Amino acid sequence: ARFSVYITREISEEALKLLSTTCDVTSWTGPDPVPRDELLKNIPNKDALFCLLTDKIDKEVLDKANKLKVISTMSVGYDHLDVGEIKKRNIKIGYTPNILTDATAELTIALLLATSRRLLEASEEARKGGWQAWSPFWMCGPGLGGATVGIVGFGRIGQEVAKRIKPFNTKQILYFNRSVRKEANAIGALKVDLDELLTNSDFVIVCCALTSETKGIFNDEAFRKMKKSAVFINTSRGAVVDQDALVRALTNDEIWGAGLDVMTPEPLPLDHPLFKLKNCVILPHIGSACIATRNEMALLTAGNILAALEGKKMPAELEEKSDFTVEDPSTNLT
Ligand code: GLV
Ligand code: GLV
Repeated sequence: ARFSVYITREISEEALKLLSTTCDVTSWTGPDPVPRDELLKNIPNKDALFCLLTDKIDKEVLDKANKLKVISTMSVGYDHLDVGEIKKRNIKIGYTPNILTDATAELTIALLLATSRRLLEASEEARKGGWQAWSPFWMCGPGLGGATVGIVGFGRIGQEVAKRIKPFNTKQILYFNRSVRKEANAIGALKVDLDELLTNSDFVIVCCALTSETKGIFNDEAFRKMKKSAVFINTSRGAVVDQDALVRALTNDEIWGAGLDVMTPEPLPLDHPLFKLKNCVILPHIGSACIATRNEMALLTAGNILAALEGKKMPAELEEKSDFTVEDPSTNLT
């Protein structure tokens, strides 16, 4: 008998074709993420679920999963999955690490430069007549040359960000991670505790996964520890930030600026205070949005499903561990 797969969004022809060779595929094809009741209605009797980071896969969904053998998410982040509940039911989990690392590191650098060199604000000024003449101190921002850069979460993406930042002639790259990362030596990054990173960095870049340990770690206290001239960049998950605290820090000039590719909720409501702040650059969660990358992600997500259903080794099966697992209990988050 053929396997049945539910896909929560329209994906690439190629990935669809791959799945259709051995599976009967049902998809949600609306322009927006699958509505909750649609998702719940479609889980029973499916062997596999192809989902996105916009789909919350929790106990309520899983209680309807009478046949589900594998959940494959087209993302590297998996905070939208209740991993504990999934594992309890012996359902396998696939995700898409590695293949989006370059794209996301690239976007992180782009967002950092857009924020620190005020690209969007400056372009807007040029268009609407604010560009009167070349002016000595107009549209200035902090540069990377000679700067200390702190990276919170030194996994695959954090490391690639560090490698790309270095050629800007930065002075020092610091990182915070629960465990020591052996790759850091070759990159020339120094492990410090979080306080030290926050206090000393001209740029603070968040590259950690969202877990119960990292939720809300960027709070009032964290922003107060940062330099007034600091630029804060987040391309991981919005919930690592206490967003109200960030609004306060930006409004009260406790930090210089922020660039966010992720926030809570997504999409951010148009009347949100962050949109009113000139010193905040907001992108609509496009970290991995390179054409080839997204195609590869869709194929890997499909490949994970096929392998799991055929009882083969999945190309990217999630083994629960995060950058913040306690391997080095002497390092604390607070
Ligand atoms: C994007 O945020 C991802 O987790 O792949
Ligand atoms: C996190 O998932 C990373 O790839 O760094």
